[in-house]
Amino acid sequence: MTRAQRLDRLPLRDELKGQEPYGAPQLTVKAMLNVNETTYDVPADVVDAITKEVRAAAETLNRYPDREFTALREKLADFLNRDLPTPDLSAENIWAANGSNEVMQHILQAFAGPGRSVLAFPPTYSMYPLYARGTYSEYIAGTRSADFTQTPEDVAAQIRQHQPHVVILCSPNNPTGTALGLEVVEAAYDAATEGETMVVVDEAYGEFRQPGTASALTLLHGRPRLIVTRTMSKAFALAGGRLGYLAAAPEVTDALRLVRLPYHLSAVTQAAARAALDHAETLMANVERIKVQRDRIVTELQRMGLRPYPSDANFVLFGGLDDAHAAWQHLLEEGVLIREVSIPGHLRVTAGTEEETTAFLTALRNWLEETHGRDPR
Ligand SMILES: Cc1ncc(COP(=O)(O)O)c(C=O)c1O
Repeated sequence: MTRAQRLDRLPLRDELKGQEPYGAPQLTVKAMLNVNETTYDVPADVVDAITKEVRAAAETLNRYPDREFTALREKLADFLNRDLPTPDLSAENIWAANGSNEVMQHILQAFAGPGRSVLAFPPTYSMYPLYARGTYSEYIAGTRSADFTQTPEDVAAQIRQHQPHVVILCSPNNPTGTALGLEVVEAAYDAATEGETMVVVDEAYGEFRQPGTASALTLLHGRPRLIVTRTMSKAFALAGGRLGYLAAAPEVTDALRLVRLPYHLSAVTQAAARAALDHAETLMANVERIKVQRDRIVTELQRMGLRPYPSDANFVLFGGLDDAHAAWQHLLEEGVLIREVSIPGHLRVTAGTEEETTAFLTALRNWLEETHGRDPR
């Protein structure tokens, strides 16, 4: 009997039968550009600082960690305040968990759940339906324009039509790179508060925004049903640290306390994240360099006759491929791992270092020449 057949014989929840787990390939190749990490190494002085904090935490691992992770919340509030015209966030406004994945799970556990629904706008982050499934919530797939943008009117109309309990706006959106203007978030909020809807803006890639794109953090004041999520996994180069967080009204964090498991953030996680926040400047130093590579990818793919989408994130979605899987496979054989997405003829690539970007562009250009005789220049 195969493992899959043995799984079928377990009394699994009906909605989990035949489902696939999240599973982006984890392969070690020359250029790993498939999950939108920062591909620069963690700088040595930050490694030292994290090691020191974690060592100190190790001395009291016989005790449960600070359940309220207060020192960490204070540092996260300070970090967000640096970017705000009115720096009015405090620890009271902050919640954190093991990645923004877990933050989002807490939000759905508190505000969605059985008999309730979650609206998001595909193509978008592939975990949203899985968060819904895991929290017994109904997932409603909304729509967006053919170029993946969203208008205030359309988003508000879909919220009024479906009246979800949670609406997730992803800005910049994964996998398209599309950022939302604040007018979209404002319209969503107004429509949401006609009913019983919480509005979540997932800003996992917020630090990579193009100049002129504002963060929804600036809208929090006076909007108690708005939540903005962030992560240290992307711009902070700390994906392995597993620290996601959000800013919202204090009563929202009280709601999340009702569903989190006790001591969900280990003392080690808290220590590593605190040390990283003390070195935010150093850790985020590569953001500007990554943006340069992102913009280079867009320009170069256009030159190759492909169709890259404008991106406010650290990755680029591009179309115009006859056989996206064959292109993906060829790149992998050349040591460049990028991401297959659910949009036919499209692939997504993370902007890495200059060398990785060159490796990606060269391998793709060669493939286009070999398979299509296409002159990429
Ligand atoms: C849009 C978006 N939100 C959230 C996450 C989750 O990030 P993490 O759990 O590492 O914070 C990701 C990861 O790729 C993402 O793309």
